[in-house]
Amino acid sequence: MRRFLVSGGAGFIGSNFVRHLLNAHPDYHVTVLDKLTYAGNLDNLLDVQDNPRYRFIKGDICDAALVGAIHESPDRPHVVVNFAAESHVDRSLLDPGSFLRTDVQGTYVLLEAARKHVVELFLQISTDEVYGSILEGSFKETDPLNPSSPYAASKAGGDMLALAYHTSFGLPVVITRSSNNFGPYQYPEKFIPLFVTNAIDGEPLPLYGDGLQVRDWLYVLDNCRAIDLVIHQGAPGEVYNVGASSERVNLEVAEGILRVLGKPRELVRHVTDRPGHDRRYSLDSAKLRSLGWAPSRSHEEAMEETVRWYFDNQWWWRKIKSGEFLEYYRQNYGERLRGGQPLG
Ligand code: NAD
Ligand code: DAU
Repeated sequence: MRRFLVSGGAGFIGSNFVRHLLNAHPDYHVTVLDKLTYAGNLDNLLDVQDNPRYRFIKGDICDAALVGAIHESPDRPHVVVNFAAESHVDRSLLDPGSFLRTDVQGTYVLLEAARKHVVELFLQISTDEVYGSILEGSFKETDPLNPSSPYAASKAGGDMLALAYHTSFGLPVVITRSSNNFGPYQYPEKFIPLFVTNAIDGEPLPLYGDGLQVRDWLYVLDNCRAIDLVIHQGAPGEVYNVGASSERVNLEVAEGILRVLGKPRELVRHVTDRPGHDRRYSLDSAKLRSLGWAPSRSHEEAMEETVRWYFDNQWWWRKIKSGEFLEYYRQNYGERLRGGQPLG
């Protein structure tokens, strides 16, 4: 039996990972610690809520007393996997402070508790955004960090701290840095679920700038398999890039969504660009692939599955696209959409 503490486990990737871990390892037990911010949602974990190997604790990773108590309880974890973060670039431009607090200070609190209570493994979930933009070639794990947004900078801070805990204190830290995930249960502020759900409702799709930015799209279940592999075969002190080598231009992704849903291209609106918008992300994932990982399905298959999931699970996102979401949408897109241009 092995016990896991999964912080941020009620979010998009975290909840997919909790489901994966419980299904793939019948002797693993999972405690989710999650603050349930606007992005945390217990609906994401409905199908595991009665599993006797799962328990949920509502709380903040910045709360050192709570994190310490979890480590001192009879269910104390052997492995900590930290997904908890403020994760949206656009929101980090509106409120950078909350990103520093959770992504840097919160990571510190988790690391410090893991050091004090001696864990087998501390896995920090990070992002390709810490490397910054790259116009040609791909980033390796050894490349310097050059983050652009407050979100990316705070994630880079968390990474540096985690590696320092390995170097200074011998804490068995491993980091994964993945590219853009997509799939079920992604909060509809992010590009793919926003565009799919807006398209279902015949609402405009706000494409930033010229829409020719490039992202390397990774199906969330393939990321979960990569994280699982790194937990079992990763070496302490090492970083592993996780990218599917499925680079697509944003405009192409938007058009693909409209095609699957049978909606008109005219729904796309070119709107004012995101400040500091990184042009292209690209990862060299040879190190992970040498452990035996590869994506399980093509980008097109995974996209179709994802679009179908949002179409079939409107109960899940319609609840979210009200209240706080509408206020954020008005703030981030109101002005932009008033000046938006239809596709030429
Ligand atoms: P998400 O926003 O969907 O989920 C984040 C979760 O963390 C939520 O459940 C939220 O309630 C929780 N949380 C936030 N602050 C907290 C706090 N102080 N204490 C406890 N819980 C807190 O994010 P996601 O897209 O699932 O991303 C998960 C992790 O993966 C993040 O660390 C992110 O940086 C990283 N990542 C995401 C992507 C992506 O494409 N989504 C790609 C690479 C890396
Ligand atoms: O690369 C990994 C990162 O991917 C993660 O670390 C972040 O947590 C995650 O949010 C994501 O960041 P991005 O900024 O790349 O993702 P987002 O979904 O916000 O945007 C994807 C692309 O689509 C980006 O080029 C901006 C563009 N976009 C996004 C939105 C929300 C638009 O054109 N219009 C939009 O309304």
